[in-house]
Amino acid sequence: MKLLRLLVVLFSVPMFAQQGGMWIPSLLNGMNETEMTNLGMKMSAEDIYSVNQSSLKDAVPHFNGGCTSEVISPNGLILTNHHCGYGEIQSHSTVENDYLQDGFWAKSYAEELPNEDLEVTFIVSINDVTKEVLNGVNALKTEGEKKALIEKNISNLQKTYKREDWQNVMIRTFYEGNQYMLFVTESFEDVRLVGAPPSSIGKFGSDTDNWVWPRHTGDFALFRIYADKNNRPAKYSKDNVPYKPKHFLPISLDGIEQDDFTMVFGYPGKTQEYLPSYAVEQIVNELNPAKIEIRDAALKVTDGYMRQDQAIKIQYASKFARIANYWKKWIGESQGLKKSNAVAVKKAYEVDFTNKVNAAGKQAEYGNLLPEFERLYKEIAPYALANDYFQEVVLRNNELLSVGFRLYQLENTYKQNGEQAFNDRKENLIKGFEALYKDYNKKVDEDVFEQIIALYGKNAPANLTPAIIKNVDYAKLTDEVYTKSALTSYDGLKALFSGSAPDVIKKMNQDFGFKVAKDLAKDYFDKVAPKYQELNTEIAALQRTYMKAQLEMNPDARIFPDANSTLRVTYGKVDGYEPKDAVSYDYVTYLDGVMEKYVPGDYEFDVPAKLIELYDNKDFGPYADKNGKLPVNFIGTNHTTGGNSGSPAIDAEGNLIGLNFDRVWEGTMSDIYYDPAICRNIMVDARYILFVVDKYADAKHLIDEMVLVHPKEKLKDNKLKDNKLKKTKKNKKK
Ligand code: ARG
Ligand code: ASP
Repeated sequence: MKLLRLLVVLFSVPMFAQQGGMWIPSLLNGMNETEMTNLGMKMSAEDIYSVNQSSLKDAVPHFNGGCTSEVISPNGLILTNHHCGYGEIQSHSTVENDYLQDGFWAKSYAEELPNEDLEVTFIVSINDVTKEVLNGVNALKTEGEKKALIEKNISNLQKTYKREDWQNVMIRTFYEGNQYMLFVTESFEDVRLVGAPPSSIGKFGSDTDNWVWPRHTGDFALFRIYADKNNRPAKYSKDNVPYKPKHFLPISLDGIEQDDFTMVFGYPGKTQEYLPSYAVEQIVNELNPAKIEIRDAALKVTDGYMRQDQAIKIQYASKFARIANYWKKWIGESQGLKKSNAVAVKKAYEVDFTNKVNAAGKQAEYGNLLPEFERLYKEIAPYALANDYFQEVVLRNNELLSVGFRLYQLENTYKQNGEQAFNDRKENLIKGFEALYKDYNKKVDEDVFEQIIALYGKNAPANLTPAIIKNVDYAKLTDEVYTKSALTSYDGLKALFSGSAPDVIKKMNQDFGFKVAKDLAKDYFDKVAPKYQELNTEIAALQRTYMKAQLEMNPDARIFPDANSTLRVTYGKVDGYEPKDAVSYDYVTYLDGVMEKYVPGDYEFDVPAKLIELYDNKDFGPYADKNGKLPVNFIGTNHTTGGNSGSPAIDAEGNLIGLNFDRVWEGTMSDIYYDPAICRNIMVDARYILFVVDKYADAKHLIDEMVLVHPKEKLKDNKLKDNKLKKTKKNKKK
């Protein structure tokens, strides 16, 4: 029975089913355009990406490198997720003025809040530069030589490629080294906070509901891009003016129905869809469990403090959300990979692949790929695990250790590059540390340290565990670190940082906290990192050939390049799913569901009084559906991943219908194995966003700058006609 199911899975929804995929926007002509049209799209590929006229891509900037945003007004207003702007909202918050808790709405341009270190980046053009990047590479023997020449070719292109002064050039690899694309980009650094709902709307359900459907979260925030008077990128200045975009998205008031076409346009970060079965086995059985256990411990400690103390809650909110997010994702991912028999499906695929290689007489070229993978993944296993322990414990979950690690790098800078380099780096670090210590609590950090250092000491591969944490009394070690070290406060750190470089180095080395961090780092760089990197380079080379072979053996398959933080299009339809026997999920949730989940005063499920009042009065303005209910979230079959947060969900005609922000629990394994039967992306319904801005926040001036349309009723209002007219005029001019 199980085997039968497996075979059904294998042949009905193999890796290349007619769904899923994250496609390059400049290459949609042909297969993608046909599929999209079949799904109901009324646009052409040229409407989505064009270099000759304004197109959808001109409305979709990368938001600070990690999320996506979209322009929704002619005055540079952009929409992204609440969780993407969370750091900015938090940075403007204090206990007295808590925008995380109460929300924030600028009433005029003058009230919009500038943000340091926030930028958005538009794509101007995309070009294939594979030939140029790989020029001369095939003649070389070693991976090292190849890598060096590729880097040189890339850096040449970066210098010489034609662009305007204010633009940048970025080159990325696709299909694991088989294709290279060049992006001309424009980055804007003056991006101001315009509006954010309270967390009880923007983060409703918090970590309990995170990665879960049915969902009821208004996960959105508004920012505005400012430019200089020539509409070009500029550093923050009060003289800057709202940016005039080449394109902005009209917003549909007509909402969604079952099977409606949807496309999600954004910057997916990383997927690994073409891993061999051995790699997936390792993730499920070894790496995910270790990372989950460490974060589990760190989160329990932090959560305890956050519930007791409002100041700690604000300090740790953003960090906690970040750590909790992937902790929960890895749990769902492991479950999903197991439940969908991903390893067995991969193994069957590999048998099929081998048969094809044999049939094509390509054994010499491709016959050793899978046995080599098997050998290498076995060899890398302890190093990969030790690497994860180091990364999670030293760099991600404990602040004293991560500060100590950066001081260790600073010491190395001095040894390698001298005093000037040391001072430059120190100045940079001080700025970052000031912000870090603003949100630092010694007690929280100390308790986390004790828990996770013990896990590291006891559970990392024995021969790769640093001596300083092996077979020791962890309570005593922790106590010693936190009583003696100066790294537990900003003042302590500043005192450590005063004086000449040799003075600073000497003081650092007398600090016990630094000593522990340095020992861990040295041990890692002596015993783990070199071998881990060496094996990874071999695996990457193999993966490049495996990718090439898969493309060659399956010439008609829908093989998309793994996500790499570049702009992609994914498309599908509005659809529910059946997560398990006898359970079936609908595709849309309503405000009624918010009220069902409401727990007065709860930190995750409280509902603001004003929202309850609007609900009780059914005061939904023009935003309710035809049954008078207010939609909140909906799901679709779009293949998304981390980085797609804040991506626009776009209807058949190019209007905004939703805002992507998450995936469903049963489908979180989609980064490794996409199963169209249960993988769904979660979006905020555009009507809920408009409702919150208009009815809840009374920010009608923001609604006024948007263009709201009725594509289904074909009753586009006058504003839209104006907009279209303007656009056609503009195009004619060109
Ligand atoms: N899971 C979503 C994503 O990966 C949302 C995360 C933000 N929300 C949270 N409760 N941590 O980003
Ligand atoms: N929540 C994710 C993000 O921030 C999206 C996802 O992983 O589905 O990009």
